[in-house]
Amino acid sequence: MLKRYLLTPGPTPVPEAVLLAGAEEVIHHRSQEYSELFLEVTEGLKYVFQTKNDVLIFGASGTGGMEAAVANLVSPGDAVLVASNGNFGERWQQLCEMYGAEVTTLEYEWGERVPPEDLRKALGERDDYVAVFVTHAETSTGAVNDLEAIGAIVRGHPALLVVDTVSGLGAVELRTDEWGIDVAVSGSQKALMSPPGLAFVSVSEAAWERAGKATSPVFYLSFEHTKKALENPRPQMPWTPPVGVVQSLALALEHIREEGLEKLFKRHRILGRATREAAKALGLELFAGDYPEASAVTSISVPQGLDGKKLNALLKDKYGVQLAGGQGKLAGKIVRVGHLGYFGPFDIIIAVSALEMALNELGQAVPLGKGVAAAQRVFLEEDAW
Ligand SMILES: Cc1ncc(COP(=O)(O)O)c(C=O)c1O
Repeated sequence: MLKRYLLTPGPTPVPEAVLLAGAEEVIHHRSQEYSELFLEVTEGLKYVFQTKNDVLIFGASGTGGMEAAVANLVSPGDAVLVASNGNFGERWQQLCEMYGAEVTTLEYEWGERVPPEDLRKALGERDDYVAVFVTHAETSTGAVNDLEAIGAIVRGHPALLVVDTVSGLGAVELRTDEWGIDVAVSGSQKALMSPPGLAFVSVSEAAWERAGKATSPVFYLSFEHTKKALENPRPQMPWTPPVGVVQSLALALEHIREEGLEKLFKRHRILGRATREAAKALGLELFAGDYPEASAVTSISVPQGLDGKKLNALLKDKYGVQLAGGQGKLAGKIVRVGHLGYFGPFDIIIAVSALEMALNELGQAVPLGKGVAAAQRVFLEEDAW
């Protein structure tokens, strides 16, 4: 029997107790018991989002949360600004176009970070943008955008700031209120270490105002329906939720509160740094640079002449170690190591050790153990436990 290790940036490993919580008897979604659980989850999410704004929960994947943001805020003909530096930035652009917005896209090479000053310039050129759409952690490359700086720039402009933090939330610091983020979107299956099935959207007062004026048709993902159900004397979701995922998430959020945000982000920064040091020690190129905030996923360029798909297939099928490959135009060119959510130092040791062995098996003579040693040194230096 092959032992398997899921080390991808989503879905991510789920602690056994969290999985088991989701396997408990289904409770009725209009009952008092469910209501209490639902409120506990909503409060737990506000803690992780670091917000006092409403946090709405949808029975959807992360993309459903993104579509909810666009459908509720953007009307046909609205001018919007999208800053795109990867696959998920492109998704903002696609969604805004689909809802009939007049989209201006600031486009960057995949792997680069969005230069905040470019947003200042773009916002200075016209004053009718209703919203700016940005990705927090761009999972397709590992690049993390500087939302604090971007928030400070957008704050001086009437446009809303809408952020995709599907893989960022809980892995990379995100101060929703302090940084002026009007709408932040996330999902259950990444750093919140729960099964897939729920999307979350935080909504500021300014975003509620805009939603009140927006004219795009929306029903299942309606902010208004969702808030009305949340404000019911027995708080709930408007439609039947994936109750098991809510049950799992309640426990996962309890674990996150126990760890505390400071330790949570420190753990992720250490895991990211160890992964990057390991890659460098092996003489491999980091696809999206080397900085402390890159703490959700690390992309490593596949050496010239080697097919990354072959590398990932060997890792998964022979060694049982599942890493992610490149998406879209990066297919076959990078390998992505997830380190968000229920990840610890020895997950990184497994990923790096498997990578060293697979590269050698495919004719790339990287020095066995050198990447592992570099990661070990980081863990000892940082006292990762
Ligand atoms: C940054 C980012 N945005 C959006 C999504 C889309 O989420 P989902 O696949 O849950 O719809 C993902 C998932 O990989 C993501 O990493």
